[in-house]
Amino acid sequence: MRIIEADQVADVRAGEVPAHVGVIMDGNGRWAQMRTLTRSEGHAAAEDAVVATVDACLDLGVRWLSAYAFSTENWTREVEEIAFLMRFDEWLLRKERRDELNEKGVQIRFLGRLDDPRIPEDSRDWLVETAALTEHNTRMVLGIAFNYGGRAEIVDAVRALVAQGVAPEEVTEERLAAELYAPDMPDMDLVVRTSSEHRTSNFFPWQATYAELVFLDTLWPDFREGHLYSAVAEYQARRRRMGAASAAAGADRRA
Ligand code: IPE
Ligand code: IPE
Ligand code: MG
Repeated sequence: MRIIEADQVADVRAGEVPAHVGVIMDGNGRWAQMRTLTRSEGHAAAEDAVVATVDACLDLGVRWLSAYAFSTENWTREVEEIAFLMRFDEWLLRKERRDELNEKGVQIRFLGRLDDPRIPEDSRDWLVETAALTEHNTRMVLGIAFNYGGRAEIVDAVRALVAQGVAPEEVTEERLAAELYAPDMPDMDLVVRTSSEHRTSNFFPWQATYAELVFLDTLWPDFREGHLYSAVAEYQARRRRMGAASAAAGADRRA
């Protein structure tokens, strides 16, 4: 991805801005290792990058930002690291940071299997409190994918349909989508992953099927506004066809 200059940001602002951006915040561990810090210190350094990303999205008018904080596969890590990652009030959204986002009009939601008994109760209380505090904000939705797995999300949606007694012929894409963790969430237009890994690791497979994927070598704790602007500039240079024979028809379909 080409990093744009500061004087090109106005063009990005004037162009077609994605409604929903996803970020796979990867590379905290490698960032820490390069500085002989602990992996948890790498995660702690992620917070500034999250705030910078939110600020850039607010500036551009992105309405939805979904960030991958903890996957259903991350339980396989060492206990100390998991214990730290459960404390997102320490590494992702400390109280002052949360209050700042609240003042900026950001609605914060947590998406994932939040009733998992492995999540400590005080962490769960904190996320419920955060969601309640910000639920009336309308400027932007920050979705934090926490104990999130795309396959788990689809399984949970299917379970909900089965529990409602929905007959097989009544199962449609719309009905299933209505049972996802955030049914009002629009499809992802752009997914950005840091740290040179070219995969999506179970990140919103349903919502991101037609997302443009942008991969950066930057490690997540070094990610700043300029990276987000550059990723959106890259998105604006892409031609989305959405299965149609030409980009224009694809764009029509999307409208
Ligand atoms: C991403 O950084 C954050 C989480 C998965 C919680 P990593 O912890 O995966 O960092 P690397 O990939 O080991 O460098
Ligand atoms: C994806 O990163 C999950 C998060 C960013 C929370 P991982 O580091 O867990 O993904 P893999 O193992 O490299 O695919
Ligand atoms: Mg990783």
